[in-house]
Amino acid sequence: MEFKQATLYGEKKPHILVIDDDEVIRGLIKNNLNDLAHVDTVISGEDGLSYLKSGRETALILLDYLMHGMTGLEFLKHMKSMTALEDIPVLMLTGEEDGSLELQALEAGAVDFIHKPVAVAVMRQRVLNILNYTYLQHSLQDEVERQTKLADKRKEEAEQLFEEMIMALAQAIDAKDHYTHGHSQRVAEYSAQLSYLLGDDPKQVRQIYYMGLLHDIGKIGIPVEIINKPGNLTDEEYAIIKSHSVIGAEVLKPIRISPELMIGARHHHERFDGHGYPDKLSGNDIPRAARIIAVVDAYDAMTSNRSYRKGLTTEKVYNEIARNSGSQFDPEFAGIMLEYLRKEKDSIKESVQEVNN
Ligand SMILES: [Fe+2]
Repeated sequence: MEFKQATLYGEKKPHILVIDDDEVIRGLIKNNLNDLAHVDTVISGEDGLSYLKSGRETALILLDYLMHGMTGLEFLKHMKSMTALEDIPVLMLTGEEDGSLELQALEAGAVDFIHKPVAVAVMRQRVLNILNYTYLQHSLQDEVERQTKLADKRKEEAEQLFEEMIMALAQAIDAKDHYTHGHSQRVAEYSAQLSYLLGDDPKQVRQIYYMGLLHDIGKIGIPVEIINKPGNLTDEEYAIIKSHSVIGAEVLKPIRISPELMIGARHHHERFDGHGYPDKLSGNDIPRAARIIAVVDAYDAMTSNRSYRKGLTTEKVYNEIARNSGSQFDPEFAGIMLEYLRKEKDSIKESVQEVNN
């Protein structure tokens, strides 16, 4: 009899295992499936398990129901309890007309049945269906895994690009302002530190870090002579400097994926008592991250050298933050900043003592 070759599954010929104690059936199956697959045969469930445990990649098992020793059903249950073997599809061969046996086998995990005496054409078609189905299933699984990996990689690359773009922008701000070199980076790091100490989750800490990096981006729009002017600013110049918060928010507005960046830029000069700028917001109306950045921004501004004065000592900065807690700064965040500075001071003192001893 001629069979039409209707294989779909991969180019590699799969391996099929036949488990049957009847030599005639084993021969019949092998002869009639040889063109579709490599067919190996064993004569018992016990031999079948040893064969599978040897690690041969098996695409399908044809399993006799009634055998000496381990029955087909026992073999099936045993096999399905083993993680490495549980996914191999099993086609059951049965001479019984008892439907309850079929049901038991299906419940135990068999995918289909062939009745004895074996109708060769039906057997071939069922085998082909299962091989194709399994092949497609595996291909789909592989494709899903491939696409997931690709998506993860792209996400990682996009995040890296986002971070690098922000770093580049932050450097552009700091390059313009000679006296506050590294200010954006330091504000970002301290703000993230405070956010961490406040118990924020990693996503919030990362967000506040980026907000810190870009809080002064509006300075890009301020004339460099005003930014770097030694000595006091005129009222007009001061008004121009103050506009960096609004300019910054406008610059960051198009970054819709991170709307918080714009908030940090706009509100980091608001004061807790409502006398800040640009919107004169007060208390909890000021976005939380902006209140955190405000403390850190002031801390860094006070400790670094400016065009018109030298940086203040840690002692003076500490006192300034304490004095302005509740007026300029949110008392909660000022408190955390003070605690942080106190710890830092203590650890410096300890290390000085260690050197002296
Ligand atoms: Fe600022």
